[in-house]
Amino acid sequence: MNDTLKSILSRRSVRSFKDTLVSKDDVSLIVKAGIYAPTACNRQPLFIIGIASEDKVKEVKDIIGGGKQFYGASAIIMVFKRNEDDFSEIDCGAAMENMLLASHSLGLSSCWIHCVRDLYNDPKNNALLMKALGLKKSYSLMESIALGYIQGDEPLPKPRNMQGDNVI
Ligand SMILES: Cc1cc2nc3c(=O)[nH]c(=O)nc-3n(C[C@H](O)[C@H](O)[C@H](O)COP(=O)(O)O)c2cc1C
Repeated sequence: MNDTLKSILSRRSVRSFKDTLVSKDDVSLIVKAGIYAPTACNRQPLFIIGIASEDKVKEVKDIIGGGKQFYGASAIIMVFKRNEDDFSEIDCGAAMENMLLASHSLGLSSCWIHCVRDLYNDPKNNALLMKALGLKKSYSLMESIALGYIQGDEPLPKPRNMQGDNVI
């Protein structure tokens, strides 16, 4: 099996992280992997931002009361909707999976975080988030990633109910 397939099969959602910071270079590579995901008709409706600096991560987490939803991750990646597009949810999913796999390939752990979306898109919090990220225009959050170094053991794979003889 090649490295790409091994990476796909061994990636797991991790929900406990060390305080260790993730390098900006690594976060930048992961964001690049997201940017290079396919988008419908190449419309590229997303805006992706990696948050690696300790202060910024804290500021972003504090907007939603401490951000325990990120499980103590030392870095965060956020995917925003750059403009209205019927395929942006699907495009976002492709970018997210690229970034989870890129993280795993760099020896980092991650978890897809959806549950903060409504909290950050509340108008007051959205304004604070845009300010924290240094953005002049207001974007709507789609999905986030908790990123960092795993604390404890790697979780076992959850059983897949789609397994079977899917090739005819
Ligand atoms: C659209 C989507 C939203 C998710 N949102 C969350 C979330 O808010 N919090 C969380 O802990 N995990 C979240 N996850 C992670 C899933 O729970 C996880 O991928 C699933 O249990 C399978 O485990 P695995 O990633 O280890 O294979 C989300 C995954 C997807 C695809």
